This record gives sequence, C-alpha cells and structure tokens, in this order.
Amino acid sequence: MAKPRNARKHKNKAAAKKSLRKVIKLASARKSKGKSNGLPRPSSRPYGQAGKALEGVKILDFTHVQSGPTCTQLLGYMGADVIKVERPGVGDITRAQLRDVKGADSLYFTMLNGNKRSITIDSKHPKGKQILERLIKHCDVLVENFAPGALDRMGLTWEHIHKLNPRMIVASVKGFGPGPYEDCKVYENVAQCAGGSASTTGFRDGPPLVTGAQIGDSGTGVHVAFGICAALYQRTRTGRGQKVLCAMQDGVLNLARVKLRDQQRLKHGPLTEYSQYAENIPFGEAVPRAGNDSGGGQPGWVLKCKGWEMDPDAYSYFITQAAVWEAICDLIGKPEWKTDPDYAKPPARLPRLRHIFSTIEQWTMTKTKFEVMDICNKLDIPVGPILSMKEIAEEPSLRATGTVVEVDHPTRGKYLTVGNPVKMSDSITEVRRSPLLGEHTEEILSKVLGYSAREIEEIKASGAITAPEKEKAAAA
Ligand code: COA
Repeated sequence: MAKPRNARKHKNKAAAKKSLRKVIKLASARKSKGKSNGLPRPSSRPYGQAGKALEGVKILDFTHVQSGPTCTQLLGYMGADVIKVERPGVGDITRAQLRDVKGADSLYFTMLNGNKRSITIDSKHPKGKQILERLIKHCDVLVENFAPGALDRMGLTWEHIHKLNPRMIVASVKGFGPGPYEDCKVYENVAQCAGGSASTTGFRDGPPLVTGAQIGDSGTGVHVAFGICAALYQRTRTGRGQKVLCAMQDGVLNLARVKLRDQQRLKHGPLTEYSQYAENIPFGEAVPRAGNDSGGGQPGWVLKCKGWEMDPDAYSYFITQAAVWEAICDLIGKPEWKTDPDYAKPPARLPRLRHIFSTIEQWTMTKTKFEVMDICNKLDIPVGPILSMKEIAEEPSLRATGTVVEVDHPTRGKYLTVGNPVKMSDSITEVRRSPLLGEHTEEILSKVLGYSAREIEEIKASGAITAPEKEKAAAA
C-alpha cells in the first residue's frame, strides 16, 4: 500500500537533515584532525628533517663541574642553543681538572660540554652584569649549579630575573633541598651517601660503597633536564617561567627508590630474595647492603666466566628466572633439579641459592662471557656480560647508534664522548665538540645581543670579558 504523500515528504526531510548533520560532523572532524588541541597540522617533511626537538629554545648555561653541564649538554643534543657563561681566563674548573693532554681542555670538560657555545663574562663586573642581563632577556632558560646563594650574591635573584624576563625558567641543582643542610656545598659522593645509595651498596661484611656511575651529578642533571622540558611545556599555557629545583639528595633517592621499598617491606618480615636470608643471617632495622643480589624478585648473581683468572672483567650476571628454570637445569647438566622438591619451585630454592649459583658457575667458567650471552639468550635466560670500558669504547654497535661518538677537537685531537642516550625519530642528534674558553664571546655579543663593533671594543677594554693576566697564566 502506497504511503500518504505527507508522510513521504516528512521522511525525505528527516533524511536530508540527517545527511546534513553527517556532512557537518565529517567536516569538523577533518578540521580538528589538522588542528587538534591547538597543534599545527602534522608536518609533511620526512622524519628527521623537521628540525630538532628543542630548536629555538635558548639556554643561558651558568653551570660548572658535572651535574649542571650534564643537563645542558642533553638540552644541546636535543637542539637547544646553549650559551655557556664562564669566568674570563679560568672557565669551568673542569677544563683543567684531570688533564691528560698538556694545554688542552680535559676530557672531564670536553665530554660534558658538547653542543654548547662559550662566552666569558665576569658576572661581578658592572659591565659584565649588564651583558648577563641582556642574555637573561634573550634566553628562555637559565640553568645553574652554583653553591647555595651564589646566584643571589651576583645580584641575580629570582625576583630580579623574573622582572627582567617573566618568561624565564630558572633551573638549579643544589646538594640538598630546604632543610638543615640546604647551605652545604655538595659533590657526587656526598650525594650518593645522603641519598641512600651508599648504605645499600657493597657487601654486607664491608663498608658502604659508592658506585662508579655518577648518579649524584649526572643523575641529577638528567632530572633537571626533565624538569626544564616540563616547565617549557607548561609555559606554552601559562606564558610565564618558573623555578625548577632538583636537589642531588632527592635525585639519588629517586634512583634508589627500590631500597626505600625494601625498607618498608622489612616491617613485614625478612627480605627473602636477599642472599643473607638464605644464609640465615638476621636482618637489622635498615636495608642491608646486598652485594650482587638482584634488585627485583628474581635471584641473580655475578659469576666467573672463562678467563677470569687473568681478566678482571671475565664475569657474567646470571638471573635464575623462575620461568626458565627448567632450561637452566638442562643447560648446566642438572636435569634432576627440575623435579627435585628442593629445587623445583622458587621458594625451595631460596635457602640454596649459594649452592645453585656456584653450580651454575661451574658451567659459566667453561664459556667466555660472550658465549654465555649467546647460549643463554637463545633460551631466554637473562644474563649480561660484565663489559669493561675498553670493550664499550670499542663496541661497533654503540658507535653505529651514536651512543659512543668520536669528535675532533682543535687542541686535543680526536676523543670519544657519550652521545645522546635518548634516540628520537624526528629529532636526530648531531654531537659537536666542546667549545674553547670564550670561543664564541664576540659572536654572541654581536649576533645574539646586537652589540656594535665599537661597543664590543669598549666591553673588551672594561675587563668584563677578559681575565687579568695573572689568572690567564694560572689557567694555562
Ligand atoms: N664571574 C665571576 N664570578 C663567578 C663566575 C663568573 N663568570 N662564575 C662563578 N663565579 C663565582 C661565584 O659567584 C662564586 O662566588 P661567591 O662565592 O663569591 O658567591 C664563586 O665563583 C664560586 O662558586 P661556587 O659555586 O661556590 O664554586 P665552588 O667551587 O666553591 O663549589 C660546588 C663547587 C660544586 C661544590 C658548588 O658549586 C655546589 O655545591 N653546587 C651545587 C651542587 C652541585 O652542583 N654539586 C655538584 C657539582 S658536579
């Protein structure tokens, strides 16, 4: 039966309305795809050719020694323009520390100050202060790791900086946060001790131990770099800068957090994965040193490998992960352990770990650490060769990925440095050598700050960017 004319008309109108709504929805979806959250349209340039992550960000780098320079070098690797301010004639103290090549900047300095420009300014000279203030107006971020109060003593208080440039982010590394030790000067090992790392590192029957990895200095530098990137992002919404502070004690504790985890677990019983439990040695009130015990839930230890008698690094870390226990038993010639109630299940193994590891070691001692790696990886058994720094320096895959980079330096020649450990698909790091002291002073004064040639001559004559002869001689 035919529908009445009116009903058909009504239906057509509704359908037209529906399709119009669909068209509007599609159009707005297309529009928002290109501009979602206020972002620009996705770049059509090939990945890696659309600039660097921090391109356009200008860093006033007032850092020295290790913690601050680690941070600003990473920002430089990410593409920021890093202008390092150094004391005329002297520069960053590390230029002359642990010097291996007479008259050349040390590796201590060169490996922490790549991808930066160097300007010398006496920050306590009135003219020097004027230049610094111009740099503050020009830059986005000031990074410093002076002793507590040093920046204020230069007249660069947060209030003053903020007045000169409300958008400026002021990032600081200090040894301690607010509290009883806030005025202390702090170096790496002090931070390792105060951050809980040293008391939990080493063997139970030995003294606290510091680690070779510079978790206090470089570790805190990494934390600050993260804080700066977050502050830069927040600034895109608020338009204003902020203070970013990372205390070395806090940075170390953040890296040692699993030990604070264990401190709390102690209240509920012994730490069964620590070998001291297997050895029936009672726990005290604080987390003990655990030698080479694994920090996770799977027991592990360092085992000798073939050649250990001559080579101090012929060792492998070996984890007896529960999931691959049967493969381990077969590998080391103990298939009976797969069903033996003393060995078959992880809790039964805990009191026998020392015996288990020494049995596995009988096997690892017949293989080089690389053979152990090859054989075990095929079976999904987690192991790791103990690599010496020589082996790391010579490892082709680390060179291929840009993790270890060789750079050329005008006074010291070729040297190795650690490139960007963070790889990004659209921001490719190019590692550049560290600058000579004051190498870019004139370039920054003229091209960045717009001083005329006559003004630069006046600045030079004032002594604000040059060192007294006495200091120059001392630094040589
Ligand atoms: N022009 C003029 N003076 C300058 C200058 C410049 N370009 N750059 C630095 N100075 C001055 C400072 O103003 C300070 O003078 P003041 O003491 O009169 O205020 C002086 O140089 C020394 O700075 P300071 O930071 O105290 O150096 P230090 O060698 O005595 O101490 C640290 C070094 C690392 C212990 C200390 O800076 C510190 O505790 N920093 C914070 C924590 C940290 O980063 N530690 C790890 C370093 S890897």
